[in-house]
Amino acid sequence: MDLFAQTQKYHQTGDFEQALAGYQALLADDQDNPQLSYLLALLFFENGKLDEAAHWFTRVVTLAPEAAPAHYNLGIIFFEQGDYPRAAQAYEEAAKLCPDDADIFFNLGLTRKKLGQFDKAFSCYQKVLTLTPDAEDVLYNLGVLCKDLHHHADSICFFEKVVRNNPDHVQALNNLGYLYHLEGEVDKAIATYQKLIALDHNAVMAGHMLAALTGQTTATAPDTYIRTVFDSFSEHYDESLVDKLGYTVPAQLRAMLTGRDSHRFSDTLDMGCGTGLSGEAFQGLTEKLIGLDLSSKMLEVAGKKGLYDSLHETDICSFLREGETPFELFLAADVFVYIGDLSEIFTLVKKRAAAGSIFLFSTELAAQGFCLKPMGRYGHAESYIRGLAQESGFTVLKVTAANIRKEKDEWIAGNLYMLRA
Ligand SMILES: C[S@@+](CC[C@H](N)C(=O)[O-])C[C@H]1O[C@@H](n2cnc3c(N)ncnc32)[C@H](O)[C@@H]1O
Repeated sequence: MDLFAQTQKYHQTGDFEQALAGYQALLADDQDNPQLSYLLALLFFENGKLDEAAHWFTRVVTLAPEAAPAHYNLGIIFFEQGDYPRAAQAYEEAAKLCPDDADIFFNLGLTRKKLGQFDKAFSCYQKVLTLTPDAEDVLYNLGVLCKDLHHHADSICFFEKVVRNNPDHVQALNNLGYLYHLEGEVDKAIATYQKLIALDHNAVMAGHMLAALTGQTTATAPDTYIRTVFDSFSEHYDESLVDKLGYTVPAQLRAMLTGRDSHRFSDTLDMGCGTGLSGEAFQGLTEKLIGLDLSSKMLEVAGKKGLYDSLHETDICSFLREGETPFELFLAADVFVYIGDLSEIFTLVKKRAAAGSIFLFSTELAAQGFCLKPMGRYGHAESYIRGLAQESGFTVLKVTAANIRKEKDEWIAGNLYMLRA
């Protein structure tokens, strides 16, 4: 067997070292051979050696610019390495050479989306649809793209097409439930959530939203629901809440301390700290600041701000139950909207409070007690909070009406509370 045939055999049977030695020997005698460079690039690629693979695929396209698979594989490698501009360039080259290859346009679409070039991403997916009209992943991606661009009607159309072909497509159904709900198509939203629950009895997102839409008040939103919502929201949370929805609750809570500004708190606990907006608002007011949250992604953003002495991925009650150290200030900005029954939290906060500790938090409104509202958040009546405060040993120092944030251009009304232990 000649060296080329022997090397190919090593390559096909997964003998990396022998195949590598073979290709290197062959290339020593024929260094401008694009086919040998391509095979060596493939060998590196298949063995996860992406830098070496990129080097040799680049050599191929230098020697043979019409080698579409080399451009395509370069696209895959650069995408994998997070170098989206070079990935897009490589896929563009491949697309010029193979204008009817759906895979190239699909990957180019994903890359354009990563680059925030949504219109270009959209054109790529449309091109894929002309080549493969019923491609489920393309229809799904188009749905997601339109959802991200807030083109809800188009997004619904794409997800409905996915579900028409595949009625059990859970992710498309989840998106449809959310979008129908947002667009006020309540019956369709209910039917979609019911379908999701029929497919999976543990469909917690659907379960929570179905309860919200059908007027059932549960004790709290499930942890998985909270994590899913906030993990997916973390990257855009600050921009979307503060810039677009006028959210200033942390600063409003801080303003409740006016007149006491000279007091520096020893230990502060930010419960449901999210991305750390309260950490920013309460800067300079506390010696030590501890944050906790259920969402790891929100905590990652908070961590980058460098404002917290420690951050804990846990739920409020577990954290309070498990420790002993007292806190002098407790914060919960826009967190109790995800918890209906606050009795355990009040008891536990009181347990971890030093005498005279301050408890600052916001709520949305409810006519009485607490209720789960159609958008999936809880409201609490002032009488309910006052009752809990009394039962658990807090004095209500201040209650202020506040605009929490906007929803569909309208302010959501709420209350801010300052309690003393
Ligand atoms: C609307 S965000 C508010 C975040 C932050 N306090 C602020 O003012 O920007 C609500 C946060 O509470 C967290 N959260 C909700 N329920 C929680 C619970 N039971 N335990 C811990 N964190 C919770 C969520 O993960 C989310 O990050």
